[in-house]
Amino acid sequence: MTLSVGVIGTGVMGAEHVRILREETAGARVVAVCDADAGRARAVAGDGEAFTDPLALIHDHKVQAVVIASPDATHADLALACLAAGKPVLCEKPLAATADQALRVVQAEVQLGKRLVQVGYMRRFDPAYVEMLHVRQSGAIGEAVLLHNTHRNAAAPDWFTGAMAVTNSFVHEIDISRWLLDAEPVLARISAAPGGDPLMITLETDRGAVVSTEVYMNARYGYHVHAQLVGRDGTVEMAAPTVTLTNHASQHGHAWPENWVPRFRDAYRIQMNAWVRSIAEERPVGASAWDGYVATAIAEQVATALQTGNPVRLDFGQRPDLYL
Ligand SMILES: NC(=O)c1ccc[n+]([C@@H]2O[C@H](COP(=O)([O-])OP(=O)(O)OC[C@H]3O[C@@H](n4cnc5c(N)ncnc54)[C@H](O)[C@@H]3O)[C@@H](O)[C@H]2O)c1
Repeated sequence: MTLSVGVIGTGVMGAEHVRILREETAGARVVAVCDADAGRARAVAGDGEAFTDPLALIHDHKVQAVVIASPDATHADLALACLAAGKPVLCEKPLAATADQALRVVQAEVQLGKRLVQVGYMRRFDPAYVEMLHVRQSGAIGEAVLLHNTHRNAAAPDWFTGAMAVTNSFVHEIDISRWLLDAEPVLARISAAPGGDPLMITLETDRGAVVSTEVYMNARYGYHVHAQLVGRDGTVEMAAPTVTLTNHASQHGHAWPENWVPRFRDAYRIQMNAWVRSIAEERPVGASAWDGYVATAIAEQVATALQTGNPVRLDFGQRPDLYL
């Protein structure tokens, strides 16, 4: 069976998801795209239909499943519309712009009694993170006690406002740290360098591990994501994120990608294929709506701590049975 997918938002991420669905995904085809900018939608629509109204795409009978890649503030309402229509949805991170909105998505899914939402925390599919998880689970490095994350962008995207370094970028580290450590953050501390960039955020987990994350939105030299997991008996970390090394102009080394698209190309592709398969098999994979809610709830509380300068005890309530 071929899954007919509609993609909402055809900017940087949406256009890449359309390309992956067309060129690199088994068992799927793009039957519709939607963008508030009609020209942008038409440019990537191919032989699919181009919409400017996302609700019209969600309700279109041709569309069996939806990818949401429009701006953060649109995610929750569109995910709710997908749930109301009973259509599976891969929603880009974050699940919502606020914890309250994210919780509404969780509550609607719990009411439905069926998991239809996957949140696009694609690092869970990145080969380097997957290998780090396997090393921890094998016991080879002993009990995990520290996780050091580095998250550097060359430059913050134009649309970044307010605390988005936390609510849009750091959410990746919240999700991947919970997943890598199989633990829940319970306490957060945050400090900012002069001018507010970079940030240093420390989380303590309910298993006693400590997670440090540098979030640097304007690091200039390139896009650089790194993680090192420290155990009692050893460490495991990512190698340089390239497959070749260059000798040039008296230097030896690798180039840094410009942004997340080349760095996480494999992760986006593997995520999309896993999502399409999971719909056929009715077996959810990846980050759930609950995971999306927890990441946004923690990010919101960390953003508050940034204002006050005080450590914050994290609170996001009980995981509903649907997500156990
Ligand atoms: N998983 C990741 O690694 C990753 C990386 C980058 C961005 N993202 C997420 O993807 C989303 C899109 O980011 P982007 O970088 O592609 O942004 P973008 O600005 O390049 O694209 C967003 C597109 O959505 C369109 N749009 C705006 N409002 C709309 C609406 N109501 N309905 C339909 N289309 C609408 C815009 O016209 C634009 O074309 C964001 O939520 C962002 O957080 C995820």
